Amino acid sequence: MACKDVISSKGLAAAAAVVQVLPEASEALEQQVERLRADVGAATDDVHLWRRVRREFSLNPGVVHFNCGSIGATPRMVVDAMCNYMRRCESDPYDEVFGKGLAQGQAAVQEQAAEFLGAAADEMVLTRNTTEGMNLVATGLHLKPGDEVLTTNHEHGGGMACWQYLAKHQGVKMRYLEMPNPVTDKAQILERVAGLINARTRVCSFSHIDTITGLQMPLADIAAITRPKEIVLVCDGAQGPGMLDVDVKALGVDTYASSSHKWMLAPKGSGLLYIRKEVQDRVQPIMLYSGYAVYSGSGGTRNVPQILGHGMAMGFHNAIGRTKVEARCRALSRLVRARLREIPALSLITPEQEALSSGMVTFALDPAKGTNAEVFNHFKDAYNIILKPAQGTYAYVPEDHVPGPRPSYNAIRVSTHIFNSEDEVERMAELLGKMLA
Ligand SMILES: Cc1ncc(COP(=O)(O)O)c(C=O)c1O
Repeated sequence: MACKDVISSKGLAAAAAVVQVLPEASEALEQQVERLRADVGAATDDVHLWRRVRREFSLNPGVVHFNCGSIGATPRMVVDAMCNYMRRCESDPYDEVFGKGLAQGQAAVQEQAAEFLGAAADEMVLTRNTTEGMNLVATGLHLKPGDEVLTTNHEHGGGMACWQYLAKHQGVKMRYLEMPNPVTDKAQILERVAGLINARTRVCSFSHIDTITGLQMPLADIAAITRPKEIVLVCDGAQGPGMLDVDVKALGVDTYASSSHKWMLAPKGSGLLYIRKEVQDRVQPIMLYSGYAVYSGSGGTRNVPQILGHGMAMGFHNAIGRTKVEARCRALSRLVRARLREIPALSLITPEQEALSSGMVTFALDPAKGTNAEVFNHFKDAYNIILKPAQGTYAYVPEDHVPGPRPSYNAIRVSTHIFNSEDEVERMAELLGKMLA
């Protein structure tokens, strides 16, 4: 059996555990997942395969959603099962939330999450989003005045405000790596990382996928620099799981915070946090004071149906196959790159190489042709095509924390997922070409 098959059969075991605990509530869901798996396995070509997958989504026929980078679309079977769980929850709240009912399924979701990211269950926390995970890590590190945090000028506020808070209130010093653009070779980044680290550096905090450009950070190479120096490598993985087949051990990161409501297509308000066992004595969020269990004295009461929905979304991905999902996101991304490259008013700011790219493509727009906000609004209002205007650093805190020029790209970001199609990409590119002609 191939390595990937072993991994996904482990994931199925965790999903099956949820079903065993909740047999009657999960029966219909299990049948739907099995049907999907069988149909995916039987599909003779890509066109039929992805049309079949698309039928699992409730997206309005007119809506073209190219923005999983902001928020994903949850499959219908997950929504339906979650609604059933919500109804059941209210039929006997105490037993369902704390007792022998639905609550029993939560630990299996934590195991599923661990398998999904290649970690162990006691390295995983089920959170609400990346921002929460990053905050738990930043506060849990108990940094001292003068300790340094190295990050980049391309981070999202959700992965950066936590450090800027420590800079403002606890005397932590920030350093910002100015991201090269374009990146044509990972050495450009590695040289800058190595050059900015010093004896006071305690943390390097980088996004797995750059929210502006879609660049995939060479984390394993960065880990080879940070780990021997005992610098904690913190990763904002908001854009990773569900788009890429993420393996946190292979990436070499010490912590990884992500948002499952983006590419993993989980219910809104679902996130994951990985804290590598070997750094758990250095990263001690108070929320984990009484342990890593889903419900704990310090974590408190949870939204059980939503947590089970989180697990179901992972089961949905596993039924299709995580490598297949990644390949599809990337294939559509390549098509976006190929088509938009033909439009003279646009210039690609996403790296071309497979290892440095992802399922998000960003093009800078010639300012003489208009602003990205105009393009975004026109596409949304006239065609129901949802793109994303991308500007620069998303620091939702006062500017004085970010020294130096902030990047400003007047750019448009396109996220392609398994419910998108070649036809949607072709139409978007044609309309964009006409608009910018
Ligand atoms: C890189 C990155 N980090 C953090 C976030 C914030 O995610 P959330 O609002 O789910 O915490 C985003 C959202 O787009 C992001 O792209």
